[in-house]
Amino acid sequence: MRILIIGGGGREHALAWKLAREHTVYACPGNPGIAQVAECIVGDPLSTAIQVRPDLVVIGPENPLIEGLADRMRVEGLTVFGPGADGAQHEASKAFSKTLMQEAGVPTAPFSIHTDAASARMAAKARFDAGQSVAVKASGAALGKGVVVCDTYEEADDAIAMMLEDRDLGEAGDTVVIEDRLRGREFSLLSVVSGTEFVSLPVAQDYKRALDGDRGPNTGGMGTYSPVAKVDDDLVRKAEDRIVRPMLVAMKDHGIDYHGVLFSGVMVVDGEPMCLEYNVRFGDPETQTVMRRLGPGLGELLYAAAKGQPLPTVSVDVPSAVTVVLASSGYPGGYAKGVPISIPVDLDESVVVFHAGTADALRESPAPEISNLRTNHRGEGEFVSAGGRVLGVSATGATVAEARARAYAAADRIAFEGKMLRRDIAAEQ
Ligand SMILES: Nc1ncnc2c1ncn2[C@@H]1O[C@H](COP(=O)(O)OP(=O)(O)OP(=O)(O)O)[C@@H](O)[C@H]1O
Ligand SMILES: [Mg+2]
Repeated sequence: MRILIIGGGGREHALAWKLAREHTVYACPGNPGIAQVAECIVGDPLSTAIQVRPDLVVIGPENPLIEGLADRMRVEGLTVFGPGADGAQHEASKAFSKTLMQEAGVPTAPFSIHTDAASARMAAKARFDAGQSVAVKASGAALGKGVVVCDTYEEADDAIAMMLEDRDLGEAGDTVVIEDRLRGREFSLLSVVSGTEFVSLPVAQDYKRALDGDRGPNTGGMGTYSPVAKVDDDLVRKAEDRIVRPMLVAMKDHGIDYHGVLFSGVMVVDGEPMCLEYNVRFGDPETQTVMRRLGPGLGELLYAAAKGQPLPTVSVDVPSAVTVVLASSGYPGGYAKGVPISIPVDLDESVVVFHAGTADALRESPAPEISNLRTNHRGEGEFVSAGGRVLGVSATGATVAEARARAYAAADRIAFEGKMLRRDIAAEQ
């Protein structure tokens, strides 16, 4: 098949790496890492798809999905893996998503929806008075900054003011969800969905906080590992039965014909799975780890899901994988760009370095300086940083511990100024 991937981050590199083993892959816009396995085309995604006419389009990030790119592509007769704007409302509106969860009987934290600060404060106050703490959530897409988990009423009060009065998050914060705070272990379940049919991929654990020991600010994700021993098959089956399947049926009842990934954010409360949220795309960096474990046939699975055909299964051939994210110093706050990256060519053969935020050094920097960076090591001096999360160093192994040791050994040999990484990815399973 000829497959076009929309996006240019670590998730899209992992998808391209996997799919390019069996198919011809194009990416729009792609990145320098993706360019090693696919043809990258910079341009408008819709025009590019119309021009390339691939057998399958896979849309990576949530924003184009929210904006209806999948719908516009389908109108052009393209076969697309990714929900339309109707299904993508799970990420555009937490109020929509929570309401549908409630209707579908999906176990989730009790909640209320508010558009004025006074009623939001009353709801938060009532919960704290009843001995319960809360999470205050901007309903709209807020780039991971829209959720404040509060220990005290004062924190909730501040979060409500920030969203509804100061409008720090703009429109995304015009509607707020106040929900009970849950406590437990979290995991992400990625399901490849075609209408009400689905196939779940292996579970991966991610690390959202910037610093070791789950301290520091939330990030897009600092690392992942799979399998997750504490999330056994029984728990996954419960999550599928209570969280994935009923939501697909509810969407169908609302006329939403969903073809794409449904990512369930699950919290295990007293041994039972509860739904924190749904996302409508592959998780990043979870995907970087999951792709390393799958056997052949992912392209066929995504194609069948896009077409509404019976879903084939994909075997899990590799026992374990660990991905460690290398970020720019300062991330998730401000960070430098254009920093030269050195990646040795003789990394362990179990290692794949996924590019999340890189650019071609020659294109991005003034030529004279770059010529000094060129060395006889292919790979060294070719790339510069272009994002907060720069690389995902992904290794496989017979065990998580083995994959972890290989990932860190490689991560330590990759150099760029300000390189920041967590040291405890997959340390405790
Ligand atoms: N009810 C809750 N109780 C406790 N913690 C919560 C609750 N809701 C959310 N959280 C915490 O906040 C994190 C982010 O919440 P949520 O997944 O709803 O936000 P998001 O911004 O859509 O995240 P993502 O970027 O992963 O899509 C969760 O992973 C969880 O750690
Ligand atoms: Mg989300």
